[in-house]
Formats: sequence, C-alpha cells, structure tokens
Amino acid sequence: MGATKRTKIIDVLNASKVGEELTVKGWVRTFRNNQFIAINDGSTINNIQAVVDFNTTDENLLKRVTTGACISVVGEVVESMGKGQSVEIKVKSLEILGDADADKYPLQPKKHSLEFLREIAHLRVRTSTFSAIYRVRHAMIFAVHKFFTEKGFFNVHTPIITGSDAEGAGEMFAVTNLDLNNIPKNEEGKVDFKEDFFGKETNLTVSGQLEAETACMALSEVYTFGPTFRAENSNTSRHLAEFWMIEPEMAFYDIIDNMDLAEEFLKYLVTYALENCADDLAFLDKRSQDEDKQKPQQQRAEMSLMERLKFVVENEFVRLTYTEAIDILRNSNPNKKKKFKYLINEWGADLQSEHERYLVEKHFKKPVILRDYPRDIKAFYMRQNEDGKTVAAMDVLFPGIGEIIGGSQREERYDNLKSRIEEMGIPEKDLWWYLELRKFGTAPHSGFGLGFERLMLFVTGMGNIRDVIPFPRTPEHAEF
Ligand code: 4AD
Ligand code: MG
Repeated sequence: MGATKRTKIIDVLNASKVGEELTVKGWVRTFRNNQFIAINDGSTINNIQAVVDFNTTDENLLKRVTTGACISVVGEVVESMGKGQSVEIKVKSLEILGDADADKYPLQPKKHSLEFLREIAHLRVRTSTFSAIYRVRHAMIFAVHKFFTEKGFFNVHTPIITGSDAEGAGEMFAVTNLDLNNIPKNEEGKVDFKEDFFGKETNLTVSGQLEAETACMALSEVYTFGPTFRAENSNTSRHLAEFWMIEPEMAFYDIIDNMDLAEEFLKYLVTYALENCADDLAFLDKRSQDEDKQKPQQQRAEMSLMERLKFVVENEFVRLTYTEAIDILRNSNPNKKKKFKYLINEWGADLQSEHERYLVEKHFKKPVILRDYPRDIKAFYMRQNEDGKTVAAMDVLFPGIGEIIGGSQREERYDNLKSRIEEMGIPEKDLWWYLELRKFGTAPHSGFGLGFERLMLFVTGMGNIRDVIPFPRTPEHAEF
C-alpha cells in the first residue's frame, strides 16, 4: 500500500495531467449527491473533486465517505464540466484509510466560530482558514531565513533555558526540577537553588538577544529565531505566553542602520507573501472582508488585507522621535476628549497600543518608526543618548497591531552599561559575561526583535494572535 505513488492535489490542479491515471490521498471536505467528493490534502487551499459512480461503487463504502474521513482514490484526470474547477478525478477505486464518525466529528461543512475552533486546535488545521495560516506561516519562516542568508547573516541558536532576564521585566517562567511539595530552603528561608538541577535559579528565556550579542561580536551580523516565553498576564489579542521571535544583531550598525534594516526586512517578508502565497492570501482576504461586513460601518477596516499588504510595501515608514509623538498624542482629539483609556499627560508616559494605533491608523496613515524613548521605560541594554533622558530605542508600529518590532542601538560603553545595571538593581552576577563583551573589543552595535506572530497577524489579516500559532499558550490555556 505504501508503495502506491501519491500525487499531491496541487500538482493535479496545476500541471496538465488530463488523461493520466493517478492516486490522490486526503481528507473529505464534502460529499454531495452521493457522487462528488471534495478532497483536500493540505498541499493547496483548493480541493480536488473526485467523482464516483454510485451505480458501480459499493454502497457501504460510500456511506463511510463523510466529512473528515481520510480516503485514497485512484482514477483518471478529466476535464471538469462543473463550475469551480478545471479538472476532476473520475474514480476507478476508492479506499477508506480512516473513518470519521459523522455524528461525532466536530467540523462540519459550515462556518464555525474562531472561539469554537480554538477548543479543537488539534482539528482546526483541517479547515481552509487554518490550513492557509499554517502554509503562510511556513512561507514566512522560510522567507526570514532567506532574507538573512542573502544578506550574509548567520543564524545562531540561543538558549531557551537561561539564568538572566534579558528584558528585566521579571515576567519569566521558572525552570526547575525541585520537588515542589518539598522545596529545599537555605538559611534565610528562601528557596535553595543550589539544590536545583542547574545549581542556580533558571527560567525560560524572554529573548535570545543577549546571547546573540556574543555571536555578533565575532560574526558581525547574526540572527536568532526561536521560541520566547513571557509570564505577563495580559489577556489581549496580541499577547502570547509562548511566541517566536526573530532577533538580528549587527556590529557596526547605529540606530539609523537598524531602522533601515527593520523596514527593509518587513517589506521583504510582505513581498514574499504576496508573491508566494497568492491562493492562501486571496482566501484570507475574502475571509476578512466577509468578517468585516458583519461589523458596524465605523469599525470596518479602511483597506482590505491585500491593500494593506501592498500599502506597506509601497510606502516609506514615517520616522519620528518619542518626544514628537507625545506632542501629537497630547494634542490629539481622543486625548482631549478623554477617549483614550490611558490619557497622555506628560513626557515619560509609556505608550499603549491605543496610542500606537492612533499614530499609525489615524494620524500618519502609514507604518511608523518611533525612536529615542525615555530611558526609564526601556530595557537596561539600550544606548544612552547625550540628553541624559532618552535611549536609542526604536519601535516599529503597524496598523491593526501597534508594536510589531522593538529594538535599539546597544550600550557598548562599559561604564555606562555597568552604572545602568546598578541603577536598575539587576544582579551583576547574572550578566558578568554580557559586561565582558564591553571590556574585550567592544563595538557599536544594534539589533531588534520581530514578534513572529505579530507579523503573522498582519500578513493573514486575522484579528487574534491565538489564531496564527498552531497551539496558543495564554493565561489558563495550555491544552494540546
Ligand atoms: O519589545 P520586545 O520586548 O523586545 C525584545 O525582546 C528585545 N530583546 C528585542 C531585541 O532587540 N532583540 O519584544 C520584541 C517583539 C515585540 O515588538 C512584539 O512584536 C513581540 O516581540 N512580542 C510579543 N509577541 C507576542 N506575545 C507577546 N507577549 C509579546 N511580547 C513581545
Ligand atoms: Mg517592546
């Protein structure tokens, strides 16, 4: 059985195979009139129609052709009379590889809510929407590696278990094999991590940046692309507890070079999607337009998904400083009319996604790169500016999303970095090696982090980050 050659549906549909006899395997989407089986094998969003002759096919076999069942058909490729497909398969023989009990199989050929589909994340990839998202995800992963390879960057694997908190926000998940019912304590009555697996306190990483910087100080241009974890209790449509991040780190780049790379990178990825995921994007575009029609006029998107993607590729991102942005926000209508949930009163306020989206969607109507943020709201490693108040940080803000990239020029001066670490009360014992990079052959350098699922939100037009990663991890959700 295994020896039977299987032809992927994408190849049946795209290559001219009329007259050939071949085998197709896949899952039944629909079975109409005891005659027309729509089969999908995930190679493309499109189904192949297999036509069975119910006069000559065993009735009991046909009964088992139900939505969700896995089947194999052998037959001839013929031109299709019906609408919607150019070719179909005239079935000679049909085999059921796996039944799907019609009374129990939860996916039926009708529209299911995204909330419902999250509860059956092990099956939702069998819908058109989610198989499209998985394929686009793959294309974007590939495009990330392609972009950096073409530029001569080297991919480095950074550790997932770490002893340091790169972002200093204390939002980490502990990694331990201590017996939680019998935790060893030291003389001060605190957990005795000396007894733990690594002999010290360890966590899941929030970022691969600090280790990527070590490689950057030898290979010049590197990137890491790995899973990152944050125990922030933000139950929003843009936050995950486990997400993937792409973090390039470049020696000899200043903040401007960094912004240039970030803009080029995002445009490259979106262009790649437009050029390589046309069928899936066309489906997702229609899907989001249909969703939009359900919404009240004011909440509808001004542009369709395809228009938004092209718009990003074709327009230069607007660049301005945090200070300029604060002026715009302070004088904005939603601020004056107290429409923002968090009102902007003074310089130094942290920007929330409502502010970021106002700048992008209402004020500039273009992607925005903000730079030079107050140092008190940013991480310890960012390069201190001459003004003594700001750091050379940069965030890229996107429509519908807000922050998609966060990055900075790094503080490469030993004394400045050391004093910042002390000021912020970060234990130096965790970062001695990071400080040593500034002692031995330090160099100006920069980098940023692109949240892969934020990118996926933008490219697919989906509204909730839980729907662009196969198995989302959020507060109280770790099923599957
Ligand atoms: O701005 P962040 O926290 O920056 C860093 O982690 C730096 N170490 C990056 C660097 O300079 N190498 O996170 C970077 C990006 C954000 O802009 C956002 O896109 C994404 O990661 N992100 C999240 N995505 C999903 N869920 C979360 N909880 C996220 N937190 C950050
Ligand atoms: Mg950030």
